[in-house]
Amino acid sequence: MEAESVPGRSVSSAFHRALLLIYLVSALAVVPIIYFFTKNELFAQANKELKLLVDVVSSARAIVKDKTRPYFLAKGEFFSPVVSSTVMAKELATQFHKLQPAYMVRMISDNPLNAENLPEGMEKDVLDALRRGGNDKGVIQQGSIRGKTYLMSAVPTKVHDDCLMCHGDPAAAPADITAKYGTTSGFGWQSGSIIGATIVGVPIADLNTAVMVRSGIVIGIITILFAGVLIVLNRVVQGNIIQPILGITEAARAVSLGRSNAPLTSDRDDEIGALTRAFELMRRSINIATDQIARLSRNRTDR
Ligand code: HEC
Repeated sequence: MEAESVPGRSVSSAFHRALLLIYLVSALAVVPIIYFFTKNELFAQANKELKLLVDVVSSARAIVKDKTRPYFLAKGEFFSPVVSSTVMAKELATQFHKLQPAYMVRMISDNPLNAENLPEGMEKDVLDALRRGGNDKGVIQQGSIRGKTYLMSAVPTKVHDDCLMCHGDPAAAPADITAKYGTTSGFGWQSGSIIGATIVGVPIADLNTAVMVRSGIVIGIITILFAGVLIVLNRVVQGNIIQPILGITEAARAVSLGRSNAPLTSDRDDEIGALTRAFELMRRSINIATDQIARLSRNRTDR
């Protein structure tokens, strides 16, 4: 009887509850799905940039090794940037950093000519790992240096005999090198040992911020879509289910009070149409039965 006093409410609210549930589940599912894809995307992007930067650095090294070094050494010139590929890479890194401060290119050594090139923070661990692993190809890993997160590629720097000209005995090193860097550090390197590493780092965009922004947008879109679905669904449920059922309820009330002369019709081809037509048959049958009972009782009283 309660349903009759507030007609239509329970059917719509069942739809509303189902819709709300679907909405909540989809809004909740959005965040982990977006997290997964964003993480992959940012990592792939960083990887691509890393490869690019590593290749730029090794191109600069190749120019020194194949072109300028043979040319200048033959003339007895020791100007470091054109003789040492590491120094050229360092020059490149310094210039590049001015244009792209977010990226990192470092030539490190724990026995450096230039104290700037001492390994910092996780660079130390990377150097240790390279020495332990003896991995000439190097390592790619994620890590932070000076509070920034990078995807880093580190390749070991191996000492060759060529290097000893400047990094061997300080007494034999070019005078402008000892004048600039002193004689205490950056010398006495041993051919064949891993003295340092080239570390190239590309920034990994802040994953959490990206996930939050994207999730916000998608949840906003889902909310608008569901609001639209809710409006359309309400109209459909009202027009196709609730209103016809209210009509049949009214008619049933009328029949329950006795003979009813209001026919119910429906040309709908669905369950509601079938219910309406079945109800109409019942109304007629009841009318006939009521008429018969009336006739019988009249006959009885006539007798
Ligand atoms: C012509 C001299 C010269 C030669 C040859 C040379 N270097 Fe250097 N190297 C330098 C100078 C100068 C620096 C310091 C650059 C700076 O100020 O950052 C340096 C720096 C480095 C650094 C960074 C750490 C540090 O010492 O400051 C590494 C690593 C390095 N060299 C490796 C090598 C290797 C490996 C070779 C041989 C393949 C080599 N160098 C050959 C002059 C040379």
